[in-house]
Amino acid sequence: MQAVVRVFEEAKTSPDVGSKFLNMMMIAFLANTPETLGWLFTHLIQSPKLFEIVRAECDAVGDIDGTAPFLKLTPHLYSALFETCRLYVFTGTPATVIKPTTLPGMGDHVFLPGDILHSMGQSAAMDVHVYGEDAKFWKGHRFVGEGEHLLKYDLTFGIGRSPCPGRNFAIAELCLIATRMVQTFDFSEPMVTERLRFDDADFELRSPKPERNVDIIDLDGKVYRIIHPGNGSDRGPPGMTAANTPESDFACKLTPRM
Ligand code: HEM
Repeated sequence: MQAVVRVFEEAKTSPDVGSKFLNMMMIAFLANTPETLGWLFTHLIQSPKLFEIVRAECDAVGDIDGTAPFLKLTPHLYSALFETCRLYVFTGTPATVIKPTTLPGMGDHVFLPGDILHSMGQSAAMDVHVYGEDAKFWKGHRFVGEGEHLLKYDLTFGIGRSPCPGRNFAIAELCLIATRMVQTFDFSEPMVTERLRFDDADFELRSPKPERNVDIIDLDGKVYRIIHPGNGSDRGPPGMTAANTPESDFACKLTPRM
Protein backbone atom coordinates (compact mmCIF):
# COMPACT_ATOMS: atom_id res chain seq x y z
CA MET A 1 0.00 0.00 0.00
CA GLN A 2 2.80 2.40 0.91
CA ALA A 3 4.50 1.71 -2.41
CA VAL A 4 1.27 2.54 -4.27
CA VAL A 5 0.80 5.75 -2.29
CA ARG A 6 4.41 6.75 -3.06
CA VAL A 7 3.83 6.28 -6.81
CA PHE A 8 0.74 8.51 -6.65
CA GLU A 9 2.54 11.16 -4.61
CA GLU A 10 5.54 11.22 -6.93
CA ALA A 11 3.26 11.52 -9.96
CA LYS A 12 1.35 14.33 -8.16
CA THR A 13 -1.91 12.50 -8.86
CA SER A 14 -5.00 14.19 -7.40
CA PRO A 15 -6.04 12.66 -4.04
CA ASP A 16 -9.42 11.83 -5.58
CA VAL A 17 -7.90 9.47 -8.16
CA GLY A 18 -5.41 8.01 -5.67
CA SER A 19 -8.04 7.21 -3.05
CA LYS A 20 -10.37 5.60 -5.61
CA PHE A 21 -7.52 3.36 -6.71
CA LEU A 22 -6.66 2.39 -3.14
CA ASN A 23 -10.32 1.70 -2.29
CA MET A 24 -10.54 -0.59 -5.27
CA MET A 25 -7.42 -2.43 -4.15
CA MET A 26 -8.87 -2.93 -0.66
CA ILE A 27 -12.11 -4.28 -2.09
CA ALA A 28 -10.12 -6.58 -4.36
CA PHE A 29 -8.09 -8.00 -1.49
CA LEU A 30 -10.96 -8.25 0.99
CA ALA A 31 -13.88 -9.22 -1.21
CA ASN A 32 -13.19 -10.27 -4.80
CA THR A 33 -10.35 -12.69 -4.21
CA PRO A 34 -11.65 -14.55 -1.12
CA GLU A 35 -15.24 -14.77 -2.42
CA THR A 36 -13.93 -16.21 -5.69
CA LEU A 37 -12.01 -18.88 -3.79
CA GLY A 38 -15.11 -19.68 -1.72
CA TRP A 39 -17.28 -20.21 -4.81
CA LEU A 40 -14.54 -22.32 -6.40
CA PHE A 41 -14.32 -24.74 -3.46
CA THR A 42 -18.11 -24.89 -3.05
CA HIS A 43 -18.25 -26.51 -6.46
CA LEU A 44 -14.90 -28.24 -6.72
CA ILE A 45 -15.25 -30.42 -3.65
CA GLN A 46 -18.69 -31.51 -4.79
CA SER A 47 -17.50 -32.63 -8.24
CA PRO A 48 -15.91 -35.95 -7.28
CA LYS A 49 -14.51 -36.91 -10.68
CA LEU A 50 -13.10 -33.48 -11.37
CA PHE A 51 -11.72 -33.15 -7.87
CA GLU A 52 -9.86 -36.43 -8.29
CA ILE A 53 -8.01 -35.17 -11.35
CA VAL A 54 -7.43 -31.72 -9.82
CA ARG A 55 -5.87 -33.39 -6.82
CA ALA A 56 -3.57 -35.46 -9.04
CA GLU A 57 -2.53 -32.30 -10.92
CA CYS A 58 -1.83 -30.39 -7.72
CA ASP A 59 0.12 -33.26 -6.16
CA ALA A 60 2.22 -33.61 -9.31
CA VAL A 61 3.38 -29.95 -9.31
CA GLY A 62 4.83 -30.15 -5.79
CA ASP A 63 6.27 -27.02 -4.24
CA ILE A 64 5.54 -24.19 -6.68
CA ASP A 65 5.13 -20.44 -6.33
CA GLY A 66 2.82 -17.86 -7.90
CA THR A 67 4.94 -17.55 -11.05
CA ALA A 68 4.12 -21.13 -12.13
CA PRO A 69 2.30 -21.54 -15.48
CA PHE A 70 -0.91 -22.82 -13.85
CA LEU A 71 -2.84 -23.08 -17.12
CA LYS A 72 -0.28 -25.65 -18.33
CA LEU A 73 0.48 -27.39 -15.04
CA THR A 74 -2.98 -27.57 -13.48
CA PRO A 75 -5.36 -27.16 -16.45
CA HIS A 76 -8.42 -28.60 -14.66
CA LEU A 77 -7.96 -26.38 -11.64
CA TYR A 78 -7.37 -23.34 -13.86
CA SER A 79 -10.49 -24.17 -15.86
CA ALA A 80 -12.57 -24.67 -12.70
CA LEU A 81 -11.42 -21.26 -11.45
CA PHE A 82 -12.50 -19.52 -14.66
CA GLU A 83 -15.77 -21.46 -14.74
CA THR A 84 -16.40 -20.17 -11.23
CA CYS A 85 -15.60 -16.66 -12.38
CA ARG A 86 -17.98 -17.03 -15.33
CA LEU A 87 -20.89 -17.84 -13.02
CA TYR A 88 -20.11 -15.86 -9.86
CA VAL A 89 -17.59 -13.12 -10.61
CA PHE A 90 -18.41 -11.92 -14.11
CA THR A 91 -20.70 -9.14 -12.94
CA GLY A 92 -19.83 -6.51 -15.50
CA THR A 93 -18.63 -3.04 -14.64
CA PRO A 94 -20.24 0.36 -14.89
CA ALA A 95 -18.53 3.45 -16.27
CA THR A 96 -19.76 7.05 -16.34
CA VAL A 97 -19.56 8.82 -19.68
CA ILE A 98 -17.51 12.02 -19.36
CA LYS A 99 -17.67 13.31 -22.93
CA PRO A 100 -20.10 12.67 -25.82
CA THR A 101 -19.26 9.20 -27.10
CA THR A 102 -20.40 6.74 -29.77
CA LEU A 103 -19.71 3.04 -29.45
CA PRO A 104 -18.99 0.31 -31.98
CA GLY A 105 -22.15 -1.66 -32.72
CA MET A 106 -24.44 1.06 -31.27
CA GLY A 107 -25.11 2.97 -34.50
CA ASP A 108 -25.05 6.81 -34.27
CA HIS A 109 -26.35 6.93 -30.75
CA VAL A 110 -24.40 9.51 -28.79
CA PHE A 111 -23.93 8.75 -25.09
CA LEU A 112 -23.80 11.97 -23.10
CA PRO A 113 -21.84 12.98 -20.00
CA GLY A 114 -23.49 11.45 -16.94
CA ASP A 115 -24.85 8.42 -18.83
CA ILE A 116 -23.82 5.16 -17.20
CA LEU A 117 -22.55 2.35 -19.40
CA HIS A 118 -22.73 -1.13 -17.98
CA SER A 119 -21.22 -4.23 -19.53
CA MET A 120 -23.77 -6.94 -18.80
CA GLY A 121 -21.29 -9.56 -17.68
CA GLN A 122 -23.87 -11.86 -16.14
CA SER A 123 -25.90 -12.10 -19.34
CA ALA A 124 -22.77 -12.56 -21.43
CA ALA A 125 -21.74 -15.39 -19.12
CA MET A 126 -24.91 -17.28 -20.07
CA ASP A 127 -24.58 -16.83 -23.83
CA VAL A 128 -25.35 -20.24 -25.31
CA HIS A 129 -23.87 -19.15 -28.65
CA VAL A 130 -20.51 -18.84 -26.93
CA TYR A 131 -20.63 -21.50 -24.21
CA GLY A 132 -23.14 -23.97 -25.64
CA GLU A 133 -26.46 -25.28 -24.36
CA ASP A 134 -24.99 -26.26 -21.00
CA ALA A 135 -24.05 -22.63 -20.18
CA LYS A 136 -26.34 -22.57 -17.15
CA PHE A 137 -24.40 -25.35 -15.41
CA TRP A 138 -21.11 -25.03 -13.54
CA LYS A 139 -18.89 -27.36 -15.54
CA GLY A 140 -15.42 -27.17 -14.06
CA HIS A 141 -13.63 -28.68 -17.06
CA ARG A 142 -15.27 -26.31 -19.58
CA PHE A 143 -11.97 -24.62 -20.48
CA VAL A 144 -9.80 -27.73 -20.77
CA GLY A 145 -8.55 -29.03 -24.14
CA GLU A 146 -10.78 -27.83 -26.97
CA GLY A 147 -12.60 -25.56 -24.56
CA GLU A 148 -9.43 -23.59 -23.82
CA HIS A 149 -10.17 -21.13 -26.64
CA LEU A 150 -13.28 -20.00 -24.72
CA LEU A 151 -11.01 -18.33 -22.17
CA LYS A 152 -10.69 -15.44 -24.62
CA TYR A 153 -14.28 -14.45 -23.80
CA ASP A 154 -13.43 -13.99 -20.16
CA LEU A 155 -14.90 -10.79 -18.65
CA THR A 156 -13.97 -11.39 -15.03
CA PHE A 157 -11.58 -8.49 -14.81
CA GLY A 158 -13.56 -5.95 -16.79
CA ILE A 159 -13.40 -4.58 -20.28
CA GLY A 160 -12.75 -1.28 -21.94
CA ARG A 161 -10.41 1.47 -20.86
CA SER A 162 -9.69 0.46 -17.30
CA PRO A 163 -9.60 -3.30 -16.88
CA CYS A 164 -8.36 -4.61 -13.55
CA PRO A 165 -4.64 -3.92 -13.03
CA GLY A 166 -4.56 -6.66 -10.38
CA ARG A 167 -5.65 -9.39 -12.83
CA ASN A 168 -2.41 -11.34 -13.05
CA PHE A 169 -1.78 -10.92 -9.35
CA ALA A 170 -5.25 -12.24 -8.52
CA ILE A 171 -5.03 -15.23 -10.87
CA ALA A 172 -1.60 -16.22 -9.56
CA GLU A 173 -2.74 -15.78 -5.95
CA LEU A 174 -5.94 -17.77 -6.46
CA CYS A 175 -4.22 -20.62 -8.33
CA LEU A 176 -1.47 -20.80 -5.75
CA ILE A 177 -3.78 -20.82 -2.72
CA ALA A 178 -6.12 -23.34 -4.33
CA THR A 179 -3.22 -25.63 -5.28
CA ARG A 180 -1.76 -25.47 -1.78
CA MET A 181 -5.18 -26.16 -0.18
CA VAL A 182 -5.77 -29.19 -2.39
CA GLN A 183 -2.24 -30.47 -1.72
CA THR A 184 -2.56 -30.01 2.03
CA PHE A 185 -6.11 -30.93 3.08
CA ASP A 186 -8.84 -33.51 2.88
CA PHE A 187 -12.26 -31.87 2.74
CA SER A 188 -15.21 -33.28 4.70
CA GLU A 189 -18.81 -33.36 3.45
CA PRO A 190 -19.84 -29.73 3.19
CA MET A 191 -22.68 -28.01 5.00
CA VAL A 192 -24.47 -24.68 4.79
CA THR A 193 -24.65 -22.51 7.90
CA GLU A 194 -25.87 -19.10 8.99
CA ARG A 195 -23.47 -16.36 8.03
CA LEU A 196 -20.77 -15.43 10.51
CA ARG A 197 -20.93 -11.89 11.81
CA PHE A 198 -17.87 -9.67 11.73
CA ASP A 199 -17.53 -9.94 15.50
CA ASP A 200 -17.65 -13.78 15.55
CA ALA A 201 -14.42 -15.58 16.32
CA ASP A 202 -12.38 -17.08 13.50
CA PHE A 203 -13.29 -20.68 12.61
CA GLU A 204 -16.59 -20.43 14.49
CA LEU A 205 -19.59 -22.15 12.90
CA ARG A 206 -23.12 -20.83 13.25
CA SER A 207 -26.25 -22.99 13.10
CA PRO A 208 -26.95 -25.12 10.03
CA LYS A 209 -29.28 -23.53 7.49
CA PRO A 210 -31.48 -25.32 4.99
CA GLU A 211 -29.32 -25.54 1.95
CA ARG A 212 -30.24 -24.72 -1.59
CA ASN A 213 -29.33 -26.90 -4.54
CA VAL A 214 -27.89 -26.33 -7.97
CA ASP A 215 -27.04 -28.75 -10.75
CA ILE A 216 -23.48 -29.05 -12.02
CA ILE A 217 -21.79 -31.16 -14.68
CA ASP A 218 -18.91 -33.30 -13.44
CA LEU A 219 -16.01 -34.60 -15.53
CA ASP A 220 -17.96 -37.74 -16.50
CA GLY A 221 -20.51 -35.50 -18.24
CA LYS A 222 -23.27 -36.35 -15.74
CA VAL A 223 -25.43 -33.75 -14.02
CA TYR A 224 -25.18 -33.82 -10.22
CA ARG A 225 -27.27 -31.90 -7.70
CA ILE A 226 -25.03 -30.23 -5.13
CA ILE A 227 -25.68 -28.20 -2.01
CA HIS A 228 -25.25 -24.47 -2.33
CA PRO A 229 -25.28 -21.47 0.01
CA GLY A 230 -27.54 -19.40 -2.28
CA ASN A 231 -26.40 -16.44 -4.30
CA GLY A 232 -26.95 -13.30 -2.24
CA SER A 233 -26.26 -11.13 -5.29
CA ASP A 234 -29.21 -12.53 -7.23
CA ARG A 235 -31.61 -10.10 -5.64
CA GLY A 236 -30.40 -6.85 -7.16
CA PRO A 237 -28.00 -5.15 -9.46
CA PRO A 238 -24.33 -6.00 -8.96
CA GLY A 239 -22.68 -3.87 -6.32
CA MET A 240 -19.18 -2.48 -6.12
CA THR A 241 -17.43 -5.81 -5.92
CA ALA A 242 -16.95 -8.06 -8.88
CA ALA A 243 -17.45 -11.32 -6.96
CA ASN A 244 -21.00 -12.28 -5.91
CA THR A 245 -21.67 -12.73 -2.21
CA PRO A 246 -23.24 -15.96 -0.93
CA GLU A 247 -26.46 -15.84 1.04
CA SER A 248 -25.27 -18.23 3.77
CA ASP A 249 -21.89 -19.66 4.69
CA PHE A 250 -20.59 -22.81 3.06
CA ALA A 251 -18.46 -24.82 5.45
CA CYS A 252 -16.53 -28.05 5.63
CA LYS A 253 -13.84 -29.46 7.85
CA LEU A 254 -10.30 -29.46 6.55
CA THR A 255 -8.03 -32.22 7.84
CA PRO A 256 -4.32 -32.32 6.98
CA ARG A 257 -3.64 -35.13 4.51
CA MET A 258 -1.37 -37.89 5.74
C1 HEM B 1 -10.66 -12.14 -8.26
C2 HEM B 1 -10.07 -10.98 -8.04
C3 HEM B 1 -10.41 -9.71 -8.78
C4 HEM B 1 -11.45 -9.43 -9.60
C5 HEM B 1 -12.59 -10.33 -10.03
C6 HEM B 1 -11.30 -8.05 -10.04
C7 HEM B 1 -12.16 -7.41 -10.92
C8 HEM B 1 -12.06 -6.08 -11.25
C9 HEM B 1 -12.96 -5.39 -12.14
C10 HEM B 1 -14.15 -6.03 -12.84
C11 HEM B 1 -12.56 -4.11 -12.22
C12 HEM B 1 -13.21 -2.98 -13.02
C13 HEM B 1 -12.61 -2.92 -14.42
C14 HEM B 1 -13.35 -1.98 -15.35
O1 HEM B 1 -13.66 -0.85 -14.93
O2 HEM B 1 -13.61 -2.37 -16.50
C15 HEM B 1 -11.39 -3.97 -11.38
C16 HEM B 1 -10.70 -2.80 -11.22
C17 HEM B 1 -9.63 -2.66 -10.38
N1 HEM B 1 -8.97 -3.68 -9.71
FE1 HEM B 1 -9.50 -5.62 -9.67
N2 HEM B 1 -10.17 -7.54 -9.48
C18 HEM B 1 -9.60 -8.52 -8.69
C19 HEM B 1 -8.42 -8.43 -7.99
C20 HEM B 1 -7.67 -7.28 -7.86
C21 HEM B 1 -6.43 -7.17 -7.10
C22 HEM B 1 -5.75 -8.33 -6.38
C23 HEM B 1 -6.05 -5.86 -7.18
C24 HEM B 1 -4.86 -5.17 -6.58
C25 HEM B 1 -3.68 -5.74 -6.43
C26 HEM B 1 -7.04 -5.15 -7.97
C27 HEM B 1 -7.00 -3.81 -8.23
C28 HEM B 1 -7.93 -3.13 -8.99
C29 HEM B 1 -7.92 -1.67 -9.23
C30 HEM B 1 -6.93 -0.70 -8.62
C31 HEM B 1 -8.98 -1.38 -10.10
C32 HEM B 1 -9.39 0.00 -10.64
C33 HEM B 1 -8.73 0.21 -12.00
C34 HEM B 1 -9.12 1.55 -12.64
O3 HEM B 1 -10.25 2.00 -12.48
O4 HEM B 1 -8.28 2.08 -13.37
N3 HEM B 1 -7.99 -6.04 -8.38
N4 HEM B 1 -11.10 -5.19 -10.81
